[in-house]
Amino acid sequence: MEKILLKNIDKPEAYKLDNYVTNGGYVAVQKALKMEPDQIIQTVKDSNLRGRGGAGFPAGLKWSFIPKDPTIQKYLCCNADEGEPGTFKDRAIMDKDPHLLLEGMMITCYAIGASVGYVYIRGEFEYGAAKLEDAITEAYEKGYLGSNIFGSDFSLDLYVHRGAGAYICGEETALLESLEGGRGQPRKKPPFPALAGLYAKPTVINNVETLGCIPAIIEKGPEWFAAIGPEKSPGTRICGVSGHVKKPGLYELPMGVPLRELIYDHCGGMRGSKPIKAVIPGGVSAPMLIEADLDTPMDFDSMAAKGTMLGSSAVMVMEEGTCMVKVAYITSRFFSHESCGKCTPCREGTSWQTKVLHRMEHGEGRPGDVELLESLCDNIFGRTFCPLGDGAVMALRGALKHFREEFVYHVEHKKCMVGSDDE
Ligand SMILES: Cc1cc2nc3c(=O)[nH]c(=O)nc-3n(C[C@H](O)[C@H](O)[C@H](O)COP(=O)(O)O)c2cc1C
Ligand code: SF4
Repeated sequence: MEKILLKNIDKPEAYKLDNYVTNGGYVAVQKALKMEPDQIIQTVKDSNLRGRGGAGFPAGLKWSFIPKDPTIQKYLCCNADEGEPGTFKDRAIMDKDPHLLLEGMMITCYAIGASVGYVYIRGEFEYGAAKLEDAITEAYEKGYLGSNIFGSDFSLDLYVHRGAGAYICGEETALLESLEGGRGQPRKKPPFPALAGLYAKPTVINNVETLGCIPAIIEKGPEWFAAIGPEKSPGTRICGVSGHVKKPGLYELPMGVPLRELIYDHCGGMRGSKPIKAVIPGGVSAPMLIEADLDTPMDFDSMAAKGTMLGSSAVMVMEEGTCMVKVAYITSRFFSHESCGKCTPCREGTSWQTKVLHRMEHGEGRPGDVELLESLCDNIFGRTFCPLGDGAVMALRGALKHFREEFVYHVEHKKCMVGSDDE
């Protein structure tokens, strides 16, 4: 299968501009600059590209919400926060092939009429930030950024902005707050960023992987892209696989590949002799699946039909013997730590979830604790200001749905049912 996003990452020094050009780069942007902006938006709509940041919103449709008035300043923000546990796909593009992202941003900015774009990169990604800075410098030196890029009428400035290590800053409006220098907390929607985003101006926010698909769509056409994978979720997807498989890592595959094929054919199967106990298919917010669900295709709609999410396609595979109370505790601790504190159900609820799970996990569970956890879930879900609180509930509900008896056993016997000592 032809790769779109990871096609260059194993090539030597692919991060250098000259090598990117040798590998066929910066052809698409020159083609795009000869098209009308609306034609590009229509091309991306026709490709059916859906956002790779988690929600799967159609990219071309999002771009079309940006007002056309040329006198209004517009912005593009690339969401490179990548804070969802288990997710490590965007950093591969930024570390190894940063010009792919820059080219995707150039085309997007031209299409939506933005003269300024930012890459909001997770604070911990020091290496990737440096690689992007170097790539931007190279692009300015060549005239690919700045005034009249590639000799066209279009001028563009791109900047890298490093976050400070908060998961909530991956939520698009918290990202904007942080980019403006404020405290990273979500904003009320509406207004949506397409109308009032960065500095209250129309703003598109897209994930790194989403933007990385744009050059190929322009170069090869929307029909080519739309023909890869399922009709409603086309294209390829970078699956970041971790956990108890033989070959964890990044796999770019057509959207819709079943989990079983990903795990057994591409990742070499399980590392030991134990069967699969559970799989988290899209980052820790996505409810876990079990062995019986392994034939589910990895696409947005099939995962939703199974009651979970494709999310960031961070696939975490757990073998038989993994303690689900421990998994739930570690996950809950993450959400509680990362809760921004703006709304009570999430701030207090995730903290209580963690306290109850901590005592259960440490042999101090009390009668009624499982029911207490379920009641906490009911009181958080759907009552929070942003989806982080829902994510905490979905993760815990997923574990309780399939493995409730393990939680009960921890309370009744003050120890683990599966005897796992594996973190
Ligand atoms: C708590 C939280 C964290 C998020 N983290 C990220 C992230 O790290 N990267 C990302 O692209 N989207 C993240 N999102 C989704 C963004 O809000 C937004 O939907 C996305 O950046 C839009 O880009 P896309 O349309 O290209 O997917 C997060 C959402 C929430 C609620
Ligand atoms: S749900 Fe959590 S992270 Fe989101 S606004 Fe409320 S407290 Fe902040």
